[in-house]
Amino acid sequence: SAAEKGGYPYFMLKEISEQPAVLADTLRGRLSPDGAIVLDEERLSGEDFRDIDKVFIVACGTAYHAGLIAKYAIEHWTRLPCEVEMASEFRYRDPVLDRSTLVIAISQSGETLDTLMAVKHAREQKARVLAICNTNGSTIPRESDAVLYTRCGPEVGVAATKTFLGQVAACLLVGLFLAQARGVLYGDEVGAYVEKLQKMPDLVARTLGTVGPVRELARSLSGARTVLFLGRHVGYPVALEGALKLKELAYMHAEGFPAGELKHGPIALVEQGVPVVVVVPSPRGRAVLHDKVVSNIQEVRARGARTIVIAEEGDHLVEPFADHLIRVPATSSLFSPLVTTIPLQVFACELALARGLDVDQPRNLAKSVTVE
Ligand code: G6P
Repeated sequence: SAAEKGGYPYFMLKEISEQPAVLADTLRGRLSPDGAIVLDEERLSGEDFRDIDKVFIVACGTAYHAGLIAKYAIEHWTRLPCEVEMASEFRYRDPVLDRSTLVIAISQSGETLDTLMAVKHAREQKARVLAICNTNGSTIPRESDAVLYTRCGPEVGVAATKTFLGQVAACLLVGLFLAQARGVLYGDEVGAYVEKLQKMPDLVARTLGTVGPVRELARSLSGARTVLFLGRHVGYPVALEGALKLKELAYMHAEGFPAGELKHGPIALVEQGVPVVVVVPSPRGRAVLHDKVVSNIQEVRARGARTIVIAEEGDHLVEPFADHLIRVPATSSLFSPLVTTIPLQVFACELALARGLDVDQPRNLAKSVTVE
């Protein structure tokens, strides 16, 4: 009903708008008075966590993209090697697992069978399992040794939006938790990160407030045959998520690439008028990568691409090369997906609506896939 949709014509629009609140809820109360990160369930000892020497992340779809972002944070903060794998591939390749391996399973529903089977395989091999999940008491958290719940509330739109933001925040918290458990980061450092994280809901709200022109842009591109997405560092998984949203919702061909890989193949796809969306790294935090991505924008534009540039406020270097410039608030690199994802969600949603499609119930897709 209209009331359930909170006055929005689609649940997806409502769920996009709820993101500042769900992010704040997921982050609430995560720092104990003695400065420790608080999970929701912990059936492992501090020693078990200290002994972890390798991390695998398993997930499907949008949750897999959250996992790709987590890898950057986990390796940076914990200095543990971390691999991310689509759950459907994990157990069939005989991964090297033992009791000092932590497998992080990310699943909104907690019922995705591919992810559940990856968890079961990991446990059979004695690995420890930590679940990031949005559904209390669902199967994956019940099969896990530790759980951090995202508190996004029920998500009705088949294509994940608010739960992706919740997953990214949860991944950052797990990264801090592990760094603390290993003694790599201390209470005050962790506290400072959490404090910065807690400012993100306001920045997400600001991003939602300035995203209007993206709608008009999306409508103007509803006839495009393909859309390419480029990013680097954490902007790369964001590019993948932007492309996935467009496939799911608008049934358009879309691909995400690491911008550095452009010259090794994808640039051959660029011809007159092809829209290329570029997620630009911060010029402050990642100056070297920023300059390389600016060169990539010039390269595709010289070949006729219509460039849609997502860049931090105050980044003037991108201006001459952006046919369309979408601003997001400045953040530290690891937190930036929480804002750069927003315009891509709105872009895909609006483009699908312009094509006359039902964004809550895309064809052939299921909210939760309980078959392998
Ligand atoms: C389905 C949904 C996706 C979701 C994926 C993983 O394919 O359509 O939106 O990302 O499952 O779901 P999960 O519940 O495990 O996060």
